[in-house]
Amino acid sequence: MSLFAMGFLLVILQPSTGQFPRACANTQSLLRKECCPLWDGDGSPCGESSNRGACQAILLSQAPLGPQFPFSGVDDREDWPSVFYNRTCKCKGNFMGFNCGECKFGFSGLNCTERRLRTRRNIFQLTNSEKDKFLAYLNLAKNTPSQDYVIATGTYTQMNNGSNLMFRNINMYDLFVWMHYYASRDTLLGGSNVWRDIDFAHEAPGFLPWHRLFLLLWEREIQKITGDENFTIPYWDWRDAEDCVVCTDEYMGGRHPTNPNLLSPASFFSSWQVRTGRGEKRGKKKKGRTRGREKLIVSELSYLTLGFADPRTAISNISQSGLHNALHIYMNGSMSQVQGSANDPIFLLHHAFVDSIFERWLRRHRPILEVYPAANAPIGHNRENYMVPFIPLYRNGEFFIPSRELGYDYEYLQEPALDSFQEFLIPYLEQARQIWPWLVGAAVIGGIVTAVLSSLILACKKKRAGTSPEIQPLLTESEDYNNISYQSHF
Ligand SMILES: *[C@@H]1O[C@H](CO)[C@@H](O)[C@H](O)[C@H]1NC(C)=O
Ligand SMILES: *[C@@H]1O[C@H](CO)[C@@H](O)[C@H](O)[C@H]1NC(C)=O
Ligand SMILES: *[C@@H]1O[C@H](CO)[C@@H](O)[C@H](O)[C@H]1NC(C)=O
Ligand SMILES: *[C@@H]1O[C@H](CO)[C@@H](O)[C@H](O)[C@H]1NC(C)=O
Ligand SMILES: *[C@@H]1O[C@H](CO)[C@@H](O)[C@H](O)[C@H]1NC(C)=O
Ligand SMILES: *[C@@H]1O[C@H](CO)[C@@H](O)[C@H](O)[C@H]1NC(C)=O
Repeated sequence: MSLFAMGFLLVILQPSTGQFPRACANTQSLLRKECCPLWDGDGSPCGESSNRGACQAILLSQAPLGPQFPFSGVDDREDWPSVFYNRTCKCKGNFMGFNCGECKFGFSGLNCTERRLRTRRNIFQLTNSEKDKFLAYLNLAKNTPSQDYVIATGTYTQMNNGSNLMFRNINMYDLFVWMHYYASRDTLLGGSNVWRDIDFAHEAPGFLPWHRLFLLLWEREIQKITGDENFTIPYWDWRDAEDCVVCTDEYMGGRHPTNPNLLSPASFFSSWQVRTGRGEKRGKKKKGRTRGREKLIVSELSYLTLGFADPRTAISNISQSGLHNALHIYMNGSMSQVQGSANDPIFLLHHAFVDSIFERWLRRHRPILEVYPAANAPIGHNRENYMVPFIPLYRNGEFFIPSRELGYDYEYLQEPALDSFQEFLIPYLEQARQIWPWLVGAAVIGGIVTAVLSSLILACKKKRAGTSPEIQPLLTESEDYNNISYQSHF
């Protein structure tokens, strides 16, 4: 079943484009460029009759972008979502959603008037049954078709402005893998030409808000399909980890006893098989998922530290943060690793913890919104840009706020005993404060990253010695995404 799902994912990966509310994936919506679905509650578009929202023209930010993407009109993601839609639901008050049928993060109740605060917990503090429930939820997501969203298999042009529909169903888990991939993939310029210096979710200030929203949406979809309104994504606190301690069969899957490229057959996720195309014929089954999990962490974290840019130049300047050398090691992965990294459920645990560090930073510095660059960031990363590929629309700046305002908190941040953590960070903070607020964040996170990664890498190297002579790139699926995408354009 899940094998089918991943195989299916690869099949649909051809000319790639974004995900769409099912209700807007039709000819009429695309031709009119309008995505204002009816709200079930009253049968009016955007719940207009109940004063939930209204169908409105999209207001795009006019702020200048950085120089990294010197094209215009070549990528469906430019000025998101205006290539597809120029009118969407604008929800009022605490309402949210593509038809204003949901509540904003942090609210619940029929009229979205009740405040909610959920706590994300350390995966190692869950009881066995809570932990097993989490794994079962992941599996359910992998096997539950998304009701609300479909993904498109063609570009807007290929769809002939909507007269030639190219949409497919997708399961809920892969929908999110897909969104992550879609936001970070290269621009296809026709023929074999691609432009790599583009990423709507990494390497620039949007990194943390983007992933914050991504996890919130993910959490909410799980809440919906399981009926467990209290579900939160657990986090893996890797600060003191000397090894990939979640990489066990009890948790996210151990290593195969004889083949280091495979997941242990006893792991809950070993049934999440994938197909890959690189070096193999399409359709040939590949057991287990990916290899080199440590590399996932490493490459994701490298993007974490790169997620901060100097607002004046909108370019990440790692040399200023004093992490230059350390990052060279971590940067030894390709973009494609990042693109497909959401395939691995560790992604969630890891990003939840990354988000908690962002949260620490927000609470410590209480930055005003203006700290987030309004202009000259790489494409998609300005404060007022809508984040790719989400519909309904969310701006980067909306997630540059404390998590409690978004209805969640972290178990370890509720505790008063944070002092030692802070002390550990102080030298980095002092060093970085002189530079620029954004770099403060980079230094905070970079310091942690450096410490943690050094120990992780050492531990992993020790563990691997003798079993795997060569470290292969993680997530060959994502490279296949690229291959397939390119192929489809030849
Ligand atoms: C939105 O798109 C439609 C269809 O292409 C077009 O007729 C309309 O002028 C556009 N509106 C705006 C505000 O761009
Ligand atoms: C929700 O709002 C409607 C209209 O304002 C009202 O009639 C209804 O009683 C409210 N329901 C709840 C549960 O507050
Ligand atoms: C698609 O839309 C563009 C711009 O609105 C227009 O120039 C073109 O003729 C349309 N193509 C089709 C097939 O409708
Ligand atoms: C969620 O938590 C609240 C508050 O603790 C509780 O009242 C409610 O029953 C829980 N819901 C479920 C589905 O467990
Ligand atoms: C990065 O910082 C270094 C040291 O301050 C400086 O020399 C360099 O020009 C900066 N690079 C960019 C791209 O801003
Ligand atoms: C990158 O990885 C390759 C192979 O794993 C290794 O030979 C090389 O030294 C690494 N480069 C850096 C900068 O660590």
